[in-house]
Amino acid sequence: MTEQARRAPLQGKIALVTGASRGIGAAAAKRLAQSGAAVVINYHQNQEAAQKVLENIEAAGGRGMIFQADVTRKDQVEAMVATVQEKWTAVDVLVNNAYFPFKVGQLHELSWESFHQAVEHELSAFHNCVQACLPGMVAKKAGKIIVISTRLAQQPLPRMGAYAAAKSALESMANTMAIELGPLGIPVNVVTPAFTLTDASMIMPEAFRERVRETRPLKKHLYPEDVAGAIAFLAGDESSMLTGSHILITGGSHLQL
Ligand SMILES: NC(=O)c1ccc[n+]([C@@H]2O[C@H](COP(=O)([O-])OP(=O)(O)OC[C@H]3O[C@@H](n4cnc5c(N)ncnc54)[C@H](OP(=O)(O)O)[C@@H]3O)[C@@H](O)[C@H]2O)c1
Repeated sequence: MTEQARRAPLQGKIALVTGASRGIGAAAAKRLAQSGAAVVINYHQNQEAAQKVLENIEAAGGRGMIFQADVTRKDQVEAMVATVQEKWTAVDVLVNNAYFPFKVGQLHELSWESFHQAVEHELSAFHNCVQACLPGMVAKKAGKIIVISTRLAQQPLPRMGAYAAAKSALESMANTMAIELGPLGIPVNVVTPAFTLTDASMIMPEAFRERVRETRPLKKHLYPEDVAGAIAFLAGDESSMLTGSHILITGGSHLQL
């Protein structure tokens, strides 16, 4: 491997990160750009934050563009992916990351509409992004699909059931796609973070956050940057024989009762 390939293993690749204006998506976009990818920073409402991520990437010598699209809307995702293809080339790496706020509450108390909305957002976003990116990946005979799930999909917490069910179904879609797209040379893998300090997790009180940190074997908070490295690994060639794999990022908490 040349020194250039070692320093920038994603050189020449196009990575689309959904929900990249903040949190894990922003950290992933920066990390992928550091590895040489040209990054599409998708956002929903927060243009200023997306612009800051882009400026950060460009200041470090990387390449990117911001793109507003509600990923639950098929037409908007198609327009985004078509624009990327026109300006650059087809997307090589799709990071399905956007976070959709959901109704917190016990499952038996939630209205069907609230429950359905959580599932609808999570699954339609993934389906839209895969359908839009896949023709380009197939034409290139290469591609990587990375899905961000949550530890709650396997390790439930009361009142988070709508989110957990949506993410469990998302993981199931990823597993099926790993089998279906493997023969096309497109791996599909899942990154499963535990509770990570971002805007989304700030709905939990400080005492909860501290308790999570204290009960983790590694005794540390999880930050978006701790998740971004695994995403970069899955985007690159060193993970070429991984598909249908789930990488847990928990600081060890998955080992505990
Ligand atoms: N934080 C945790 O504890 C944790 C733990 C496990 C897994 N996760 C997963 O990690 C992923 C990222 O979560 P996070 O905590 O980093 O979230 P976050 O900091 O709240 O950021 C959410 C991101 O999603 C974008 N977004 C929201 N709705 C969108 C839509 N309809 N279309 C496109 N983008 C949209 C937001 O864009 P705007 O800025 O424009 O609103 C923002 O960039 C999610 O899949 C989440 O389930 C999080």
